[in-house]
Amino acid sequence: MTMPNDTATNPAVSDDRGLCWEIKSTFTTYVESMSDGNIAVFDGAERMPDGAFFFPLVDEYEVDGAQIKAFHGGVQFTGHHGMLVVTLTGIQLITEGEHASLTIEDALSPTGRLTLVEMSGRHSEGNAERYASPKLTEDGADLFFDNYPVGTELEPIWLLARS
Ligand code: HEM
Repeated sequence: MTMPNDTATNPAVSDDRGLCWEIKSTFTTYVESMSDGNIAVFDGAERMPDGAFFFPLVDEYEVDGAQIKAFHGGVQFTGHHGMLVVTLTGIQLITEGEHASLTIEDALSPTGRLTLVEMSGRHSEGNAERYASPKLTEDGADLFFDNYPVGTELEPIWLLARS
């Protein structure tokens, strides 16, 4: 996958860290194949040439032993003449030991957030960390109108490591 800030080739931007995620490639293909399908990034998020989305890291803190990383920007998928609107924004990556989860803003939830995917284990690869096999939660399945069963694997999540 394309890394926006490959420190090996571009040391000038090595301080930029963020979350790189293709989310679900079949979903982006589905949206892009609609006549009115659109994928819009906003507030500092970027779409990389290989289709992955990049969300810059804005905050990092610890709560009760859990490491929380917060990312800027978002992506919105629209189509089917306004019937399909899926927005991922306010992304947070929460790691606690081997367990990790990714949460997003959800205006309809009493807590204001929903947990989209959960994963166990992470691997360092070069200057990045990779969270393999993120699995869709029940709330995550709801977000996609139950087109994917709970536990469906989304694309791996990458976190650019501290330089
Ligand atoms: C007018 C309403 C809709 C119609 C006619 C429609 C139609 C379809 C069709 C035909 C497919 C199968 C595509 C394929 O296999 O190539 C599909 C898949 C899917 N639809 Fe919709 N859909 C509608 C609304 C929605 C809404 C509101 C969502 C909300 C997120 C949604 C999410 C999905 C997802 C996630 C898939 C699976 C894509 C994949 O990974 O292959 N759809 N839809």
